[in-house]
Amino acid sequence: MSDVNVAKRAAAYAAADLVQDGMKIGLGSGSTFLFVIERLAERIKTQGLKVSGVPSSQGTADAATKAGVPLLTLDAVERLDLAIDGADEVDPQKNLIKGGGGAHTRERIVAAAAKEMVVIIDDKKLVPVLGKAFLLPVEVLQFGWKQAERLITATGGKPQRRERDGVPFVTDNGNFVLDCKYDGIEDPAWLGEQLNALTGVVDHGLFVGMAGRIVVADATGKVRIIP
Ligand code: A5P
Repeated sequence: MSDVNVAKRAAAYAAADLVQDGMKIGLGSGSTFLFVIERLAERIKTQGLKVSGVPSSQGTADAATKAGVPLLTLDAVERLDLAIDGADEVDPQKNLIKGGGGAHTRERIVAAAAKEMVVIIDDKKLVPVLGKAFLLPVEVLQFGWKQAERLITATGGKPQRRERDGVPFVTDNGNFVLDCKYDGIEDPAWLGEQLNALTGVVDHGLFVGMAGRIVVADATGKVRIIP
């Protein structure tokens, strides 16, 4: 297994071990989160863990179903005990960039329904300032997306529509994603508000003040928890 996967798995397993019997949890998305599903499935089989989860993407729903992790719809619960999810970057204030997989809109809804959002990352994702290396994903409606692109450009970003295999990437919600270069986001709360106010923008990948514990692991599999 590669170093990065050793780290991702260690962080994911540590977070999955925070899940207690009877909990209803939010299931994040992405390659790190797949290891949470793996560990939950193992705990269900070996420890008889009772858990059910609300998936934040079709990919997660499919993986959880295959692994035997029971699912719930968000509308069937009032509050989730915990949400666990990955991130693309985490700054010293525990603000996040998410959306590398284009699932950030549902991820935010699921995380906001939880009493705590636990974030799982490998230590390379800890950065002093968000958005210097990673492009900020912004989900926009397909209708009039060029207008949304123009409005985002006026906030100082350089948007580029995400493509996969030469065709536009479409989210689970049927929208496009614009990956936006900002060369460093000094004030994520301010930028998040600006983007939220733009017509045609569905949601962006800045998660400000949402993260609870950050579970970080290094390439040796050593885990630490930022409270
Ligand atoms: C999905 O849209 C994202 O928000 C992911 O949670 C994030 O991109 C982390 O993904 P990896 O675990 O694959 O790095």
